[in-house]
Amino acid sequence: MTNQERHKAEIERAMISVSTEEKYVNRSTWKLQYHVTTPAYWMNDPNGFCFYKGEYHLFYQHHPFSAEWGPMFWGHVKSKDLASWEYMPIALAPSENYDQDGCFSGSAIEKDGMLYLMYTGNVWTGDNYDTDLKQVQCLAVSGDGIRFKKIVENPVITSAPEGDIHPYHFRDPKVWKHEDYYYCVLGSRTKNHHGQVLLYRSVNLIDWEFINVAAKSEGNLGFMWECPDLFRLDGQDVLAMSPQGVKPEGNLYHNLHQAGYLIGELDYQTGLFKHGDFHLLDYGFDFYAPQTTQDAQGRRILIAWMAMWESEMPEQRDNWAGAMTIPRELSLKDGQIVCNPVPELMNLRQSLVHYEHVTISGEQELAKLSGDSYELEVQINAKSASQFGIKLRVDQENHQETILTYDLNEGLLSFDRDKSGQGPTGVRKAPVQLRNNTLYLRVFVDKSSVEVFINEGEKVMTARIYPVEEATGIRFFGDKEIELTFLNKWSLKKGI
Ligand code: FRU
Repeated sequence: MTNQERHKAEIERAMISVSTEEKYVNRSTWKLQYHVTTPAYWMNDPNGFCFYKGEYHLFYQHHPFSAEWGPMFWGHVKSKDLASWEYMPIALAPSENYDQDGCFSGSAIEKDGMLYLMYTGNVWTGDNYDTDLKQVQCLAVSGDGIRFKKIVENPVITSAPEGDIHPYHFRDPKVWKHEDYYYCVLGSRTKNHHGQVLLYRSVNLIDWEFINVAAKSEGNLGFMWECPDLFRLDGQDVLAMSPQGVKPEGNLYHNLHQAGYLIGELDYQTGLFKHGDFHLLDYGFDFYAPQTTQDAQGRRILIAWMAMWESEMPEQRDNWAGAMTIPRELSLKDGQIVCNPVPELMNLRQSLVHYEHVTISGEQELAKLSGDSYELEVQINAKSASQFGIKLRVDQENHQETILTYDLNEGLLSFDRDKSGQGPTGVRKAPVQLRNNTLYLRVFVDKSSVEVFINEGEKVMTARIYPVEEATGIRFFGDKEIELTFLNKWSLKKGI
């Protein structure tokens, strides 16, 4: 067998495994309707997100033989409008000595009409996954965006550079073009375990030259930076990354790992990234390893893994695990990133329920307002209430509800999943200021997820929840009378 035949055979073996299980997984009551998930079994990070030959392509870390993390393949979906997705054949499988234990995260770039995937080849050199590993950077190429061939020059980066750079934790290339060169950032840590990002340059994607450590953890920014992404947004450079091991501070950083960004300026000559403070990209529970791409309209679009490492995932019992967030369009406002759902998601809307000027006292539900897969847009005037909010996925018989509460005195919006059903519990809080005494929310609910966009995307809170099927209630509450200035709710149709 040639190397390429072996790769193809591994992909076929994986696809048979997934398609055999798919029909059972589709019966799972938590299977998401319009979020990207696998047909079956495990997924984590978004990879290779790109716009190629008129379509959006999204790849993902995939273990096609069980609902647990394992040797990583790259699953693949594509879309014309970021709202409806279609499954494509698995794109990458471990098949070479240099990637035998996994094709880890990476990115995509078009060159001379071909689509290149740059990824990390992972090899375990012993039993301890923290210390016994060898990571190298590799390329695969395709002319149709579907079938990929690993190039013979692999691995294109064979070892981590000298210096205060950990020799083995060296992964997740994100590649882009700037003037005459290709650049990539790689996730890394110092020998002493402080997260950092490495910058490389290449003329041809194959020969890479290390330029510098572009940025590193200072203070409480963790022991490893995974999945870096460097891009231009509204005239600034942004370095997004997923730091592991940031300690909780007040209401912040209560997840096991974080995903956030630094805004600054990359000096392409020295390779140094001068930047301001770290900010989170999402204030919920389940958001990690985000990746962005720029499309033909020049928009910067982000998708993240809607899960968290080591979090309980009840859907594993139904032989699937993990999902992507909805695609979010990024912009800068007052020195921070604002994230909003891409407008194309409106293509999924059906059966509108509309209300205006509804006064709520105590706790109330509204006629015809319920569901488990919908978009809810609501503007709430606090009037003289100091605490008010919305309960989602309510089922009174089972005492289930997921509660969003705004507290004026604290200036915080909290997301409480203590009574959301099965799976992990807890509360997360995001700092939010009312505007003219009103709160504006767009909430995307799917069978086992909630994404809350606050005040036009100034803050976002994302979570997985696992309620009973009957939990479809929506209720509003306030400690004094509040007014729903307007409310729109659309059921969202299946997108995948
Ligand atoms: C992030 C990550 C990456 C790695 C991949 C392995 O979630 O740990 O750093 O490439 O997952 O699946």
